[in-house]
Amino acid sequence: MDASLLHWPQEVLTMPGCTGYKLSAMIQEFNFKAIATLYSPFAEKFAVPRQPGLVTAARAELHFASGCNREEIIRGLEGFSHLWLIFVFHQVIDEGWTPTVRPPRLGGNRRVGVFATRSPFRPNPIGLSVVKLEGIEKRNKQWLLHLSGVDLMNGTPIVDIKPYVPYVDAIATASGGFTEQIEPNPIPVNFNEKASLELEYFVNEYPGLEMLIRQVIAQQPQPGYLRNGVSRRSYGMRLYDLNIRWLTAQQGCEVTAIEKVVSAAEEET
Ligand SMILES: C[S@@+](CC[C@H](N)C(=O)[O-])C[C@H]1O[C@@H](n2cnc3c(N)ncnc32)[C@H](O)[C@@H]1O
Repeated sequence: MDASLLHWPQEVLTMPGCTGYKLSAMIQEFNFKAIATLYSPFAEKFAVPRQPGLVTAARAELHFASGCNREEIIRGLEGFSHLWLIFVFHQVIDEGWTPTVRPPRLGGNRRVGVFATRSPFRPNPIGLSVVKLEGIEKRNKQWLLHLSGVDLMNGTPIVDIKPYVPYVDAIATASGGFTEQIEPNPIPVNFNEKASLELEYFVNEYPGLEMLIRQVIAQQPQPGYLRNGVSRRSYGMRLYDLNIRWLTAQQGCEVTAIEKVVSAAEEET
């Protein structure tokens, strides 16, 4: 036996992974239930911000599931400005994972270990995001949290919430590994005449829509090799039930259309 293990208690030494010891009956599988669902503007994966806080205009509502839908469970939460959300990457749950991944922000051509990344494709597809708590509401019988700065898709199951505690969570001297090479490079976003009129039409129904579109597109959601005005291309994304289209150009982007998604049933009528 490794001498360094001599002073560890027996319960620890019998844990799976301690070579040379039989496996104990330690629990290795867990069955968690969602405690809430998050409703965000991001109906599809493309254009979801890559991390929380990059798109401050991304507002969301977190609705507690029935077992947790009670006032006392969130008592005291109002004193915190930010929360940690622990969630399941439910849209890629069946897509598996690989030990190394190519972070898009490294241009997609350098591989690093999955645990050195925030990739959704990991052994346990669990995500962690720090978000801003904008308010707490009881709507009819439903308790909900108003959040902003989210990087989660619409319908994401939440498995836990913890308060962000600055005195322990904010580490001024922390180093950021390969992410230190990443320069936030937001690009200017303009609306052409047609899109400006469409924006005006939707503005009451979707408060904050202009800022949301600007911030999402400014982050350049397209693949790394197509960023920074590499070529003039057309892109589309879905925010809420709106299709947004834009063109990339050397000096920035131009939003060209904001239209309601037409369902197949509506198209037939
Ligand atoms: C790089 S991950 C970071 C998430 C979290 N901040 C973390 O570090 O665990 C963010 C990306 O996850 C993807 N994503 C967000 N919610 C998801 C969901 N419910 N299912 C699958 N993918 C999701 C989107 O593509 C988004 O851009």
